[in-house]
Amino acid sequence: MSTNTNNLPPVEALQALANQLFNALPEEAPKEVSFDPYEHPRATAFAKSITGEGVVPGVGVPVDEAWVQSGGPAPFAVSDPFNGIAAPPSATGLGASSSIASYGNTNTALPGAGEGNNYLPPGYEQTKSDQSTLNGGVPASVAGSGASPSYVHQQDNFSIKEPVTSFPDSNIDKPAGSKDIFALPYAGEQAYWSDVESILKLISISDAPSGISPLSPTADVHTPSFYFLQSREQPVQNGQLGGFTSGFDAYKIKRDFPILNEKVNGKSLVWLDNAATTQKPQLVIDRLSYFYRQENSNIHRAAHELAARATDAYEAARKKVQQFLGAKSPNEIIFVRGATEAINLVAQSWGDQYLKAGDEIIVSHLEHHANIVPWKRLADKKGLTLKVIPVDDDGQILLSEYAKLLSSNTKLVAFTQVSNALGTVTPAEQIVAMAHAAGAKVLVDGAQSVSHMPVNVQALDADWFVFSGHKVFGPTGIGVVYGKEALLNETEPWQGGGNMIQDVTFEKIQYHKAPNRFEAGTGNIADAVGLGAAIDYVTQLGMANINAYEHALLEYATYHLTQVPGVRLIGTAAHKASVLSFTLKGYSNDDVGKALNREGIAVRTGHHCAQPILRRMGVETTVRPSLAFYNTCEDVDRLISVLKGLVR
Ligand code: ALA
Repeated sequence: MSTNTNNLPPVEALQALANQLFNALPEEAPKEVSFDPYEHPRATAFAKSITGEGVVPGVGVPVDEAWVQSGGPAPFAVSDPFNGIAAPPSATGLGASSSIASYGNTNTALPGAGEGNNYLPPGYEQTKSDQSTLNGGVPASVAGSGASPSYVHQQDNFSIKEPVTSFPDSNIDKPAGSKDIFALPYAGEQAYWSDVESILKLISISDAPSGISPLSPTADVHTPSFYFLQSREQPVQNGQLGGFTSGFDAYKIKRDFPILNEKVNGKSLVWLDNAATTQKPQLVIDRLSYFYRQENSNIHRAAHELAARATDAYEAARKKVQQFLGAKSPNEIIFVRGATEAINLVAQSWGDQYLKAGDEIIVSHLEHHANIVPWKRLADKKGLTLKVIPVDDDGQILLSEYAKLLSSNTKLVAFTQVSNALGTVTPAEQIVAMAHAAGAKVLVDGAQSVSHMPVNVQALDADWFVFSGHKVFGPTGIGVVYGKEALLNETEPWQGGGNMIQDVTFEKIQYHKAPNRFEAGTGNIADAVGLGAAIDYVTQLGMANINAYEHALLEYATYHLTQVPGVRLIGTAAHKASVLSFTLKGYSNDDVGKALNREGIAVRTGHHCAQPILRRMGVETTVRPSLAFYNTCEDVDRLISVLKGLVR
């Protein structure tokens, strides 16, 4: 069998093999309930990437030398995601879930298979009252019963041969006996360029903004400014991005994110809601799956093999976060649920312990509610004063006004490194240094910064730095408090329970040192591990490369957005990251959001959990596209095209 450069067999051969396998399966083999073989454009893209078809080589000189030497962005979909840990065979890029591959294994039959139509999950007995509740349309709670809600919806008609789940499933809905459902998922998919062609139809060249783009100084007014009109062979023209020619291939990177191949309202998804949450690369999805398939156990608690695997994976993730943030020690990294919980932890532990009536806390006007509410609550509870650093009309911190607020009463300064509502990048190092000069501690909210720029907590010298995993391409429900080790160890624990104690008697409790002293109970082990994988991913791309690419893309987007008649950009700081908040004259923000959604473009509209700063800018809400490194000029062009369509 011939192979291509990645040592993978040709796609046709894989398809033939897979068809043989699936044809050999017994008729009653359970079908993968969440597997839709007809919707995997990523598989086509990946197939093309491994056969070399349609791959656009990077050009120019990357920012990150190590990255250059390794030949540009690694093909994440085929690299070992587990850094030396024995990795499972991956169905990555083929659109097949690993569970499909295990259908030949009789151990994987669904519970109840062969037990007739009256199978009840263990521990669940259907009663008359269940039945009447069900007939009333509202299922009885199944919590703790061991029954799945979809079983309950099916009542007693459940059949393993003809399962009817509570959600649509294309495998189950296909006519019985249809073998073509096992065709490889990408069979019959549209070619990538058909997407681009449909976009081209939407955009006429006369829509191109007139004047000379600051990003392409040599362009004349007759040159189409949508770069992808210029050449079908090279969809990525990185030279267009303000002279940034690192070969950062956002199209290639996009293929690592399965969800970015979704269709929304018949259009390929453009995800411009990255400030709300980021999408997850296959590497992260695979890592979570691997954890649950081969490592799952509680941690720090047992002598058995899986406890060791899970503990190692969790502690390795802590180490990755430490290195990602440039912390001195993994002991300075506490896993929490997200940035919000992180700030609450500091407020309710250190804040409650050390702050007293008359003390002052300073926050900036830019803050997310998560960096206002916990401090306001603490201030109200303890008689503290909350002061606010003002911003100018562009949304930039006024350092001179900040200096006036600082005094010996200032015990804490808490501020964001990047504003989620305006995108302002704050002068974080100066703010920290000024606070320290006044004798105050400093908490930096990095929720919107860590995915866009290199961060080094030692250089920043913050006492605490917090972020959320889901905003840096990791899972939801996991986040981090970085704290200086000595400070963490002189702070009383936040929550009490298992894992955080050295010794417990009814008379006296001895706590662990950090980080365990702040990790009571069973934490979000799998998602911490998933966050570690996300950090591997962005580290491999290089945060400096990400920062440079996004900066150029933001400039491109800002220029074109501000050319749309009626657009008011909210937040015009000289230093910005990712965010383009705006309003469009004559339209409600909600209407703009809906119009964009109709074209498959996701942005957030609303107050972005940052009402004070929006009000300071004279608005209650905005439309907020926010960029990540997998966004392209083409994504921006599609956004602009919809706005122009509205204005027309
Ligand atoms: N903090 C998130 C945002 O800015 C949810 O959208």
